[in-house]
Amino acid sequence: MIGKCLVFLMVFLLGTKAIVNAQDLVKGKKLYETRCLVCHQADGGGVPNMNAPLDGSSNVVGNNIARLVRIIKNGYSEKIALDGYYYNNVMTPNPDLKEADIANVLSYVRTSWSNKASKITLAQVQAALKKK
Ligand code: HEC
Repeated sequence: MIGKCLVFLMVFLLGTKAIVNAQDLVKGKKLYETRCLVCHQADGGGVPNMNAPLDGSSNVVGNNIARLVRIIKNGYSEKIALDGYYYNNVMTPNPDLKEADIANVLSYVRTSWSNKASKITLAQVQAALKKK
């Protein structure tokens, strides 16, 4: 009896975790559509010479999570080559985004289109914003 209850509990907990995870990506997508799509486009392809692509970008799927977090928060206009190309538009900062929002939108871009990288956790965002 206790065994059965435990199994039910496990299935229930795993199920809720899956729903919560999916919910993060739904929120991330919404945020992407309101804040990022105008420049990076619905397919993440960006605009040649203007806005960097997020789909297939080695930085977006790479391990420098802190850099990605700071780009979302502070904007970006380094004008250095990204995978060999330059983009002359200026990415606007998002100082009002909550840490959870940053985790959600980064999780969305790292798992969308052809990107198959890990999702970003709240703890990773907090760690990135702490060290300057
Ligand atoms: C006003 C246009 C604009 C908006 C809005 C915008 N970006 Fe950007 N983004 C850019 C440009 C332009 C660059 C490259 C700038 C450069 O090379 O100096 C960039 C670069 C990036 C990079 C770095 C890419 C790489 O390969 O290193 C990431 C990640 C990124 N943007 C994500 C986002 C996300 C997520 C959002 C929404 C929260 C967003 N951007 C909103 C224009 C924009």
